[in-house]
Amino acid sequence: KTIDQLGDLRGKRVLVRSDFNVPLDGTTITDDGRIVAALPTLTKLLDAGARVVVTAHLGRPKPVDGFTPEEKFSLAPVAQRLGELLGKPVALAADLTGESAQATVAGLADGEIALLENVRFDPRETSKTDADRQALAAELAALADAFVSDGFGVVHRKQASVYDVAQVLPAAAGDLVLKEVESLSRATTDPQRPYAVVLGGSKVSDKLGVIANLLTKADRLLIGGGMVFTFLAAKGLGVGKSLLEEDQIETVKGYLATAEANGVEIVLPTDIVAADAFAADAPHAVVAADAIPADKLGLDIGPASGELFAAKLADAKTIAWNGPMGVFEFAAFAGGTRAVAQGIIDATTAGAFSIVGGGDSAAAVRRLGFDEAGFSHISTGGGASLELLEGKTLPGIAVLAN
Ligand code: 3PG
Repeated sequence: KTIDQLGDLRGKRVLVRSDFNVPLDGTTITDDGRIVAALPTLTKLLDAGARVVVTAHLGRPKPVDGFTPEEKFSLAPVAQRLGELLGKPVALAADLTGESAQATVAGLADGEIALLENVRFDPRETSKTDADRQALAAELAALADAFVSDGFGVVHRKQASVYDVAQVLPAAAGDLVLKEVESLSRATTDPQRPYAVVLGGSKVSDKLGVIANLLTKADRLLIGGGMVFTFLAAKGLGVGKSLLEEDQIETVKGYLATAEANGVEIVLPTDIVAADAFAADAPHAVVAADAIPADKLGLDIGPASGELFAAKLADAKTIAWNGPMGVFEFAAFAGGTRAVAQGIIDATTAGAFSIVGGGDSAAAVRRLGFDEAGFSHISTGGGASLELLEGKTLPGIAVLAN
């Protein structure tokens, strides 16, 4: 169901689940991409005269000694930024479904918007017990007449504000969720070939399911980031003090064998930027991938690898990218990520359909100053986009089909 199928929304209270899980430095939002991505749906609802009630999470708040989760994980900075972007005030309720939320929602006029405080302050949101989640979903549902699911980054979570509430209220997918699913489907369902996938990020263990699935779908897998050292080790190479998941070496050996059997090309870097320490100003040098000194650690793929990866992307018709190639936050180790980003932009100009997924790669693209328009689709989902690439059914999407 889409928003249009919910009927006339004038005067109706519409609960929207958004993903406003943005990176913060104190109370300063360092990347507002997810808030910007939520605007089309919110604007559409406001223009239709709905009374919009947004629910969202920030972080994974847990009461630990020394700080009040409510302070650190409050959505106040988000309400502020959302108000600036919409050009209208966004009232922030002090709670989720209590007195403040009820009064805030009751005070909304047609075309006005409010944000409920961090949904994860309520432990029922993420409870594994159905009855707990359903009780919270009922309280949320009491605040609204309809539900719009638009937090794509969280649709892989079976949580009260994502999954259970959609079973109580008339529910529809928002424009962001529709756009994300449509775009990612171009990679998961019958992709135009060659289909090349670039995988990075620190850990192989975060991407096991994706790699296994891609070994049956993709034509080429280009591997960089911290996880590449487990691949190099699986090939019998020394990796010095680089990040290594020893317990995954056998699994990766299995992937290399499957890739060969399936005719999937695995492209590994031929050179590495190896540093003395994990620091922005650490002394570093480019070394061959099979000659990483024992006392150094790799923090980026090298320039020859950047060229190799770009060449492997040049004739691709479908490209998916998840995870940076190196520690791009440090200028000295951003070259690999930069080369891959540029390679994807060039391939896109030449006609490829390209998807950037995962919070880190999307943030890298923005932070390194690339024009987002150079890519076909930049996903707001981290885990959610990975799980779609993995071929999984996502609970927050499946529930909308009912
Ligand atoms: C994300 O940042 O990927 C989403 O907001 C989901 O957050 P979570 O992994 O804490 O559920």
